[in-house]
Amino acid sequence: MLKLSAAVLAGILFSPAGLCAQTRTLGIGHVARTDAVNAIDIDVLPDGQGLPPGSGSAVEGRAVYAARCAACHGPTGVEGPNDILVGGQASLRTARPLKTVGSFWPYATTLWDYINRAMPFAEPRSLAADDVYAVTAYVLFLNGIVTERQMLSQDTLAQVKMPNRTGFVPDDRANENLPRK
Ligand code: HEC
Repeated sequence: MLKLSAAVLAGILFSPAGLCAQTRTLGIGHVARTDAVNAIDIDVLPDGQGLPPGSGSAVEGRAVYAARCAACHGPTGVEGPNDILVGGQASLRTARPLKTVGSFWPYATTLWDYINRAMPFAEPRSLAADDVYAVTAYVLFLNGIVTERQMLSQDTLAQVKMPNRTGFVPDDRANENLPRK
């Protein structure tokens, strides 16, 4: 969850002055209002924390996809012209890995988050929560991961088992800034 509290934002705004003289401020900015912070606090964690109320299945998602996604991702998610969303399962270990939602993405919850924050590409954040649940369900349905009538909601989305859920390993390097060996 976004950890941007009013105190932190005030700290960012005022810290250069604060470093020189504890009491001096620049007299600019204002304390972040709760509603302004909440408006950008949209991240969803893998376990589903942060999902807003709502629900949808691939039955409703089909129409959302056709109207808002198909032009760029193809009628069934494999045609493009932009990223291929469907297929590729079992291709990751081959010479030509095809990374799609079905073959690569480890969590359905972060798929919801990505669609909600970034798609449609030219109109991000224009979909209602129910439409995001529905179109997420439809993309998962096209990948054979959920059934057409399976209702996804803030309570059930995290339970969806993605095919590549166990395909990632933790980065055990002590410091990510160290050069790779
Ligand atoms: C105007 C074209 C356009 C539309 C419409 C569009 N997308 Fe995208 N989509 C893109 C592009 C371009 C990318 C790659 C973005 C990037 O890599 O930063 C992308 C990436 C994605 C990805 C990530 C693919 C991956 O595996 O990395 C998903 C999922 C996705 N779109 C879903 C959707 C859904 C669902 C809709 C409809 C609600 C939609 N897109 C509408 C152009 C579009």
